[in-house]
Amino acid sequence: MISKSLFALVLSGMGLSSALAINKQIESGNLTVALIRAPPVNVPYPPPSSDWYGQMHDINATVDFGVKLIQRAALSGADFVAFPELWFPGYIDADPGPTDFLDNYFDQTITVNDTNWNKLVSAARKHSVWLEFGFAQHIKDNVFMGQALIDSKGDVIQVRQKLRPSGAERNIFSDGTIDQLLVHKTPFGRLGMLECWEHMHPTMTFAMHAQYENIHIAAFPWAPDLDVDSGVTRSEVSLAAARFYAITGSSHVFMPAVGTAAVFAPNGTLVASIQASEDPYETPILYHSINTTSFISSNQTYDTTEYSWAALQQVDRAYPAYIPKIANNSFIQHRQNSITEMRKFGPIV
Ligand SMILES: *[C@@H]1O[C@H](CO)[C@@H](O)[C@H](O)[C@H]1NC(C)=O
Ligand SMILES: *[C@@H]1O[C@H](CO)[C@@H](O)[C@H](O)[C@H]1NC(C)=O
Ligand SMILES: *[C@@H]1O[C@H](CO)[C@@H](O)[C@H](O)[C@H]1NC(C)=O
Ligand SMILES: *[C@@H]1O[C@H](CO)[C@@H](O)[C@H](O)[C@H]1NC(C)=O
Ligand SMILES: *[C@@H]1O[C@H](CO)[C@@H](O)[C@H](O)[C@H]1NC(C)=O
Ligand SMILES: *[C@@H]1O[C@H](CO)[C@@H](O)[C@H](O)[C@H]1NC(C)=O
Ligand SMILES: *[C@@H]1O[C@H](CO)[C@@H](O)[C@H](O)[C@H]1NC(C)=O
Repeated sequence: MISKSLFALVLSGMGLSSALAINKQIESGNLTVALIRAPPVNVPYPPPSSDWYGQMHDINATVDFGVKLIQRAALSGADFVAFPELWFPGYIDADPGPTDFLDNYFDQTITVNDTNWNKLVSAARKHSVWLEFGFAQHIKDNVFMGQALIDSKGDVIQVRQKLRPSGAERNIFSDGTIDQLLVHKTPFGRLGMLECWEHMHPTMTFAMHAQYENIHIAAFPWAPDLDVDSGVTRSEVSLAAARFYAITGSSHVFMPAVGTAAVFAPNGTLVASIQASEDPYETPILYHSINTTSFISSNQTYDTTEYSWAALQQVDRAYPAYIPKIANNSFIQHRQNSITEMRKFGPIV
């Protein structure tokens, strides 16, 4: 029950009654981003711990906790709050077989416009902050790795689904669609977002870089301390992906993750980070401000860059002739996993 008592502690210790003036500084070119690094309610900490102590995901409590964090970030001067991938209600690994744990997970998802969704949108509006958040998105008989972008008036700018969930995620989550690799013009510059290993695939990064991003949200689910060897999910790998993206995209990259959160400048410099071993309940948020003055007037043309249409043709021309050119629009089969089936038989391997 460790996480529950710490959860109570963080809620009581927030000083929410203090009527601090929210000093909006976007106009002056100062954008302050709050990166959430505390775990969702009941989720074991630090990553990659899987000691649940008999607890399970809890969407209602996590949304309430998320709203408190949004309020806290806004009172601290944040203009933008970014949550990790699948933070609502938390990440899940594909356990074999049908389990109560998996069954409960499907009950802890969010449907766009449901009560929990509206609480998050209202928090953005009430506290006048932009929001990015990762959530288990329930649509009909499928669950997706949703990623939402909401503006400070509470208007929905984008809801996307991870194009191709990674590894064992594919045994639970359904695939998104290719038309959602979008970059948006915002009052503080051009902004886009991807999730986790999407940063590893040129089929996903190329379309994003082509649209030019001043600011990019690289949402990862969790990141342990450096030197904790969890294989391909170790922090060195995730941080490398975020850093590489910053350089190749000339973007400020904000990487929220449960545990280790980080920010990279467009030149690849790590400009802010907190490691997982720092108490996530005492320091649930990493803040970083950037000067966006030059972004607003930036007028990029795309015809001469490494990510132009011409560059794309070059990739095509350079493709080795000895590899058979099999035309297939979905080179990896598009997956739609039925929740009904998974409740009966477990993850679909
Ligand atoms: C941002 O940079 C511009 C010039 O590049 C400067 O005039 C402005 O004061 C800076 N804003 C902040 C908030 O530092
Ligand atoms: C979560 O809240 C909804 C109402 O918003 C309620 O119907 C549901 O029972 C709650 N779930 C739990 C597990 O308390
Ligand atoms: C930008 O805003 C943050 C949060 O309000 C503040 O801490 C920081 O000092 C500001 N930076 C500048 C250069 O004004
Ligand atoms: C959610 O509500 C908005 C506003 O009423 C509506 O425009 C939108 O279509 C709804 N979305 C879904 C997925 O139901
Ligand atoms: C890289 O960017 C950071 C953040 O803007 C800056 O502090 C640093 O001086 C830059 N490094 C180089 C070598 O330009
Ligand atoms: C951006 O550049 C293009 C090409 O030079 C020009 O036609 C367009 O008017 C510019 N847009 C803005 C907003 O400056
Ligand atoms: C294209 O992919 C689908 C799904 O994996 C597969 O069924 C089909 O055989 C593939 N077609 C070709 C021409 O490879």
